[in-house]
Amino acid sequence: MLIRKSDPNAIPSSEITPRSAYMNRRAFMAAGAAGAAALAAGGLTEFLHPAEVHATTKLASVPSPLSTTGLKLTSFDDITHYNNFYEFGPNKGDPAANAGSLRTRPWKVEVEGEVKKKKTFDIDSLMKLHPLESRVYRFRCVEAWSMVIPWIGYSLSEFIKQCDPLPSAKFVQFLSLDDPSQMPGIRSVNLDWPYSEGLRMDEAMHPLTLLTFGLYDQTLPNQDGAPVRVVVPWKYGFKSAKSIVKVKFVKKMPHTTWNDMASNEYGFYSNVNPHVDHPRWSQKTERVIGAPIWKQRQPTLMFNGYADQVAGLYKGMDLKKNY
Ligand code: MTE
Repeated sequence: MLIRKSDPNAIPSSEITPRSAYMNRRAFMAAGAAGAAALAAGGLTEFLHPAEVHATTKLASVPSPLSTTGLKLTSFDDITHYNNFYEFGPNKGDPAANAGSLRTRPWKVEVEGEVKKKKTFDIDSLMKLHPLESRVYRFRCVEAWSMVIPWIGYSLSEFIKQCDPLPSAKFVQFLSLDDPSQMPGIRSVNLDWPYSEGLRMDEAMHPLTLLTFGLYDQTLPNQDGAPVRVVVPWKYGFKSAKSIVKVKFVKKMPHTTWNDMASNEYGFYSNVNPHVDHPRWSQKTERVIGAPIWKQRQPTLMFNGYADQVAGLYKGMDLKKNY
């Protein structure tokens, strides 16, 4: 995604690399001989990507009827090493390298705004609010690449029901953690923090919108938005806010990070739409991360393939204007 300008006062990334990542690199370099042995034993992935960054635990779930079938899953390695999480840096490998510094316990999610009563949910009780389901979804980034990810979570609507929103609540805003001591990118990337995203109430209540706690069979790795994020499979990936600490029910369309940054490039709706190009590139096709070179490009589907379920939400709307 476009970053308008770099902050002249920003600390160089070499100085803000968290100690854990620095240690990993030191360990990596020191481990030359051990590494060669690991390579010989076939442990290439573990050697290149130190395991401690992931710090996940097993998470049980039941298969969901809302899962997308017949798709080849993107590997765990690609899902966890090709990320956008600007709080940890602007490059695809930065979140995996730097997110080891994120502390995911204790963690609270505050609910405020147009609700009967403000509430705070502890992450462990939030995870038990409803049975966890595994749901395979297509994931399409606005940068024209895609993955297929087996998420774990439950419909956001189950959580919203517990929040008791008032009839005046027309939109939901999600705010991510904003802590430069854990998130080195906050000082070096010139975005308006905290990361903010939002959905119209009916989009948020749609059963496909997932409050997400894990992927494959484990809790979310830090770089994928631990301990809780949303996933909206028919929208470009940037709508799916990570590491959420606040959910606000609001009367008016909330401001969102990428819309603030470049409103002509990143609209509020951001539904996947092959007929509306990004001002700087086509959205007609996408690069499939991890696919063999001869299968890397595929056509992008309207609403990312979820048109049957969600097109009705936008009946009568001009989707070129409301991009
Ligand atoms: N959430 C926060 N807090 N910060 C971010 O930078 N990036 C967004 C979205 N959520 C982002 C975020 C973008 S641009 C994308 S494509 C997806 O997260 C990437 O999710 P993934 O790295 O798990 O694939």
